[in-house]
Amino acid sequence: MIIVPVAVAERTYPVRIGPGARHDLAAVLPEGVGRVAVVSQAGIGITVHAGCEQRQTDIPDGEAHKTLATVEMLCRQWAAWGLTRADAVVAVGGGLVTDVAGFAAASYHRGVAVVHVPTTLLGMVDAAIGGKTGVNLPEGKNLVGAFWQPCAVLCDTDVLATLPDREVRSGRGELAKYHFLADVDLLALDLPERIAAAVQIKANVVAGDEHEDPHALRGRAILNYGHTLAHALEIETGHALRHGEAVAVGLAYAAELARRLGRIDDARVDEHHRVLAAYELDSALPPGVAPDRLIELMRHDKKALHGLTFVLDGPEGVEVVSDVAESDARAALEEI
Ligand code: GLY
Repeated sequence: MIIVPVAVAERTYPVRIGPGARHDLAAVLPEGVGRVAVVSQAGIGITVHAGCEQRQTDIPDGEAHKTLATVEMLCRQWAAWGLTRADAVVAVGGGLVTDVAGFAAASYHRGVAVVHVPTTLLGMVDAAIGGKTGVNLPEGKNLVGAFWQPCAVLCDTDVLATLPDREVRSGRGELAKYHFLADVDLLALDLPERIAAAVQIKANVVAGDEHEDPHALRGRAILNYGHTLAHALEIETGHALRHGEAVAVGLAYAAELARRLGRIDDARVDEHHRVLAAYELDSALPPGVAPDRLIELMRHDKKALHGLTFVLDGPEGVEVVSDVAESDARAALEEI
């Protein structure tokens, strides 16, 4: 088992990575927990054993259910059961489950302990790590949420065996991102080591800027490398592209844009394409998407404080770059 510590302000918690990691649940629950509220989804079918009284609630699948209504439903069930502040929530699922259950745990009794058991590659290398939780509003994704750090994350690599190919592909898009955030050759590693390396990179970033200072150039926002175009593509394609697939195109785009701005050279752009190809990810814009619409969506990216804002590679590494000229953003779109 590989254990990566995540150091945040109030404490350090372990991310345990390897075959069978979910069976460590009883060992990572805080002392004195008497009841565990498991949150999962029908169809996930991954069982956990808390070693104490436990009840499971399945939440519906799909972004349309990532809402305050689902959080209310969970909290009301927990209240009816009598879950106390000394008990715990365990989220078993992908990013939607850990985001919703994490936010419900952050809110219920003003905060109960939560353990995340991510069941997707994307959840293991991103969503379940670092304490971001939240739900959507009709006005936008993840607009309501909280930073609520789990007391442990159990990345059981056994559960990845049953994951659909598209879901694994999507996780590889997030993995590809980490190649450019630190000088580690993730491709040389086996899967548990690769997940652990990605978690370690994310843990280092989160330790430096846990609450994502909106003015930090090289803070937590660098985890959004490749995401400005990715979010626009997800919206524009009606989520036909999965998140990590969109991130892959977004990484190729960010590299092209950085080259246009004189921040990186041809070899570094080639390195992006080499990594994306190694993960068997497409780096071209999908057919039929309108550049005007993508520019419009990127202009309204919620992280943009000053004009068109991107996370771009450069001589100092990956950092936030604001006020990018629309002509450059458009020309880079045409290049990919
Ligand atoms: N998924 C980006 C972050 O956790 O900050």
